[in-house]
Amino acid sequence: MADETIRVEALVIGAGPGGYVAGIRLGQLKKKSLVVERDKPGGICLNVGCIPSKALINASKVFDKIRHGADIGILADNPRVDMAKMQQWKGEVVSKLTGGVKTLLKANGCDYRTGTARFVSRNTVELTAGDGQGKTKTTITADHIVIATGSRPIEIPGFKFDGQRIVDSTGALDFSSVPERFVVIGGGYIGIEIGTLYAKLGSQVTVVEALPNILPGNDPEIVQLVARKLKKLGVEVVTGAKAKSWAERGGRAAVTVEVGGEGGKLQTIEADKVLVAVGRRPNSEGLGLEEIGVKVERGFVPVDRQLRTNVPGVYAIGDVAGQPMLAHKASHEAEVVAEVIAGHQAEMDVRCIPAVIFSDPEVASAGITAEEAGQRGRTVKVGKFPFAALGRAIANADTDGFVKVVIDAGSKEVLGIHVVGNGASDIIAEAALAIEMGALADDISLTIHAHPTLPEAIMEAAKASLGEAIHIVNR
Ligand code: NAI
Repeated sequence: MADETIRVEALVIGAGPGGYVAGIRLGQLKKKSLVVERDKPGGICLNVGCIPSKALINASKVFDKIRHGADIGILADNPRVDMAKMQQWKGEVVSKLTGGVKTLLKANGCDYRTGTARFVSRNTVELTAGDGQGKTKTTITADHIVIATGSRPIEIPGFKFDGQRIVDSTGALDFSSVPERFVVIGGGYIGIEIGTLYAKLGSQVTVVEALPNILPGNDPEIVQLVARKLKKLGVEVVTGAKAKSWAERGGRAAVTVEVGGEGGKLQTIEADKVLVAVGRRPNSEGLGLEEIGVKVERGFVPVDRQLRTNVPGVYAIGDVAGQPMLAHKASHEAEVVAEVIAGHQAEMDVRCIPAVIFSDPEVASAGITAEEAGQRGRTVKVGKFPFAALGRAIANADTDGFVKVVIDAGSKEVLGIHVVGNGASDIIAEAALAIEMGALADDISLTIHAHPTLPEAIMEAAKASLGEAIHIVNR
């Protein structure tokens, strides 16, 4: 095919939950737009991240429930895992969603192309077929260009990803069999989610975390519940430990870990597979950003509240534009940037970005913690309600968990809602809505919540913050 030149009003680089949403919204706003992607539509989230991990996490949950079915009167003899079938099913889930991305873009009038993009000027991008090595080049000029290139896993010294022994999250979600011994380096979001998943499928799992606790940055009381369940599942958690190196030994990887800081005790852990999940870094290299003068700070592209970079007409959204690296933050920024490009008055104006960890029990939060509120000089009241007092949780045979509602002691404004407990991922939506709308504790307390449901725990915790809980004794 001969080289060609295309002109659009808006070009989006990357088709993850940031880029493809920007494309859809730009199409809706009648902007002549194009989304380009070097890999598959849907980005990390749909192809190798959020979606496939949740498919496997769900399957592992079902398996674990069946294995413990006798507790609630279900006898299933010798349940087993057919990993090939499970992976096939996961693949179907992924293709259903990724297929939908192209359809939605097209239906909204936004074009889509595969290729690797590189800026040649602030309003011109060169698109090369394939991974950037291809011969066919397309020149695209655009009034507005949105960088939505996402992030990739961080590699640590001594643990080069080889797709066999040492894998990133993509590799760990693609195992053809359940590893007998599974070592996870990094006890963050990914490490705990995938570690739990394989523990439920039967792996002997060890989590190696450098800091004194897993899931750093989360409320210690919440983390404690997750740690307790990991122990129950037989997961060994080694904290204050750094993975140093590994070697092939006797048909397995022997992973050397240093416990207790520099010069600490060395420990060897055997593994069939090693997942390294120590964070992600933004994809800002190779785009030609330096050449056109786009500022890059520690890999991230700084943006203002309208997602504008320091170069006029160039915007950035999603992981590449900064923390938190969450799909739903990217999608929201995508909608805002489309409005900005269309000339509407729009900006990132959110009170909270909810976060969910699909651990067991699940962890979800929206807004700030009591500690953070204190640091901002606010006096707060905290209402807490345990799942153990919640009819629905008891009926679900899943009572590990609680809800904490943090309110301003004077105005009663809801500042934060923090949930641990299975179902947290769904009930956090109400928390985000309440905070976004500036709700008072009374607004949640006086809203009739359907019974028996898990969100009643949010209502009760809001009542507790006012000293008016019904199903626990107020303190
Ligand atoms: P993370 O930042 O959540 O956790 C990394 C962990 O690795 C930290 O606990 C850190 O202390 C530890 N660590 C760092 N270096 C280490 C070393 N050398 N040895 C041992 N431990 C070490 O990063 P993770 O889990 O890789 O996830 C990346 C990002 O992806 C998350 O921050 C999140 O934004 C996103 N994500 C979101 C999910 C969700 O929304 N449910 C699920 C998975 C990922």
